Amino acid sequence: MSEVRRVVLDPSQVRPGSTLRPIARFVVERDGVEQASVVFGRAEIFEREPTEYALARLRWAEGGLEAARAAVTAAVESAPSGAAVYLPVNAAVSPDHAARREVAEACGFRLFQEKEGFWWADTGQPLPEPASLRLEPMSRIGRAAFIDVIGRCLTQTLDRTDSLVLARHRPQQWVNTFLDHHAAAAEAQSWLYAETTSKVPVGFVGLAQRDGDPAVGTIVLIGVLPEQRGHGYVDQLLLAAYRAARMRGFAAVLSLVDVDNHPMMAAMCRSGADANVYPWHKWLYATTRDA
Ligand SMILES: CC(C)(COP(=O)(O)OP(=O)(O)OC[C@H]1O[C@@H](n2cnc3c(N)ncnc32)[C@H](O)[C@@H]1OP(=O)(O)O)[C@@H](O)C(=O)NCCC(=O)NCCS
Repeated sequence: MSEVRRVVLDPSQVRPGSTLRPIARFVVERDGVEQASVVFGRAEIFEREPTEYALARLRWAEGGLEAARAAVTAAVESAPSGAAVYLPVNAAVSPDHAARREVAEACGFRLFQEKEGFWWADTGQPLPEPASLRLEPMSRIGRAAFIDVIGRCLTQTLDRTDSLVLARHRPQQWVNTFLDHHAAAAEAQSWLYAETTSKVPVGFVGLAQRDGDPAVGTIVLIGVLPEQRGHGYVDQLLLAAYRAARMRGFAAVLSLVDVDNHPMMAAMCRSGADANVYPWHKWLYATTRDA
């Protein structure tokens, strides 16, 4: 006979590298033996945003998929009515990601966003200077020119997280907060503003060090202005970002792209970045607790 036990947790017990503030652990037991468990808490699902309800640390014993579903269902039911609850699954963290996704889907979660991780390795390949763009680093020209261009590029983004977050804020305010975190100090030299050789604004690209990995960079944000799209400028921006990565001594660049962002997915492949080298692939599931 299985039953679900709710164990209250201390929200101040945040693990290093995690933003999850635990609220409770839901444990499914059969005849007193643990079959599955999941932690329910609040986490920064969207970067620099207030915490959301989230599930993490889903575990189950061999053959315990049904118990896993019971733990997840009980955890979702503990959320306030009408609240959104998120369940992230990452292939770089969980080799059993297919089973985790099955649990999420069987419990009524929908896929909110799927992202691919593209790995570009610096093998000493030639990286010619972009031919038809003039590039200026933020460390030289300051932030002001970037704010307007980034805001205008992102109002029509195909990235599901960026569009959700932007809808909650005024674009300029969001861009400023984002740059405070991703373009400070050394990072400002690898945020590049792009214009044509006749000084017509084109877009931007921002490269930063990947959190916790000094040898690896990441393209945090990239954009081409709506009126400049469809001319392949994105290829030159990526080239400029890889040149900046080499200048900063990064051995590789891992960039994360929404799989629905077709122009960006295609540009990443053209740039020589590979989706199959590194197992990073993320599925973000969401459900709403019945009102
Ligand atoms: C993704 C992006 C950088 C591509 O730039 P680009 O220089 O226009 O790329 P390309 O020249 O290769 O254009 C690719 C195709 O996608 C189309 N396209 C570009 N952006 C599009 C969009 N937001 N929605 C629909 N179609 C788009 C272009 O018209 C072009 O079509 P074509 O091949 O029929 O000519 C640009 O669309 C953009 O800035 N998007 C918003 C910001 C964003 O998503 N950034 C990436 C995540 S941080």
